[in-house]
Amino acid sequence: MTFTPSFETSNHIIITEKLENQREKEVAMKVLLVNGSPRANSNTLLGLHEMQKIFEEQGIETEIFNIGNKDIRGCIACGRCGELGHCVFEDVVNEFAAKFKEADGMVVGTPVYYAAPNATVQAFLQRLFYSSHFDKTMKVGAGFVCARRGGTTASFDVVNKFFTICGMPVATSQYWNNIHGGAPGEAAEDAEGMQTLRVLARNMSFLIKSIALGKEKFGLPEKEEHAWTNFI
Ligand SMILES: Cc1cc2nc3c(=O)[nH]c(=O)nc-3n(C[C@H](O)[C@H](O)[C@H](O)COP(=O)(O)O)c2cc1C
Repeated sequence: MTFTPSFETSNHIIITEKLENQREKEVAMKVLLVNGSPRANSNTLLGLHEMQKIFEEQGIETEIFNIGNKDIRGCIACGRCGELGHCVFEDVVNEFAAKFKEADGMVVGTPVYYAAPNATVQAFLQRLFYSSHFDKTMKVGAGFVCARRGGTTASFDVVNKFFTICGMPVATSQYWNNIHGGAPGEAAEDAEGMQTLRVLARNMSFLIKSIALGKEKFGLPEKEEHAWTNFI
């Protein structure tokens, strides 16, 4: 299967997917957006909407997953995902994984709770990345965090580590990706934070389009058999 990016005058970037039987179908590039806040009118969702506007301008499709108010339990280390290829718990993690397999990137927006991503986001990401075994190489990742005051960069590090363990390039902005606000909607007043997110979405769009071109010209990087050594 080959992918031919064609950058057209229309608002949507189209990848022409040439199937083995030479039928062609048009596939739009897509980014999944994760909202980790449980609150209505949350600051995190505000940040995601700011990014969503830019993705739309850039012709990239989006879908928001509001996970913050869902009952997402943590990983129980049962190992069943090794046989199943997905988590034994059928919830939004598996729903997201199926869509992420086809997507070009993901954005994680998380509120900061006690200087870390909130527990729901951590449960979601740990189960998602541990249980889904499809190749994530060159799917682009980006995270941003939302805090009233402190713990932003520590939380940002946690999110980025999910991407950097599985071949996902991380999109960056003009500052570490954080927005500030306490009461719902307050982050709208954080002009620098909102700008950071718009720049992030533009940079991420560029990276996604560039990777599509690169895959077509060079293919994905060669893989090696993973050597598991437990420090030995
Ligand atoms: C349990 C809990 C812990 C929190 N811990 C922090 C914290 O460590 N640092 C901080 O600046 N704000 C903290 N906050 C405030 C939230 O980060 C802040 O209200 C933010 O706007 C939440 O994002 P949201 O509007 O998207 O839900 C905490 C809030 C809660 C409920």
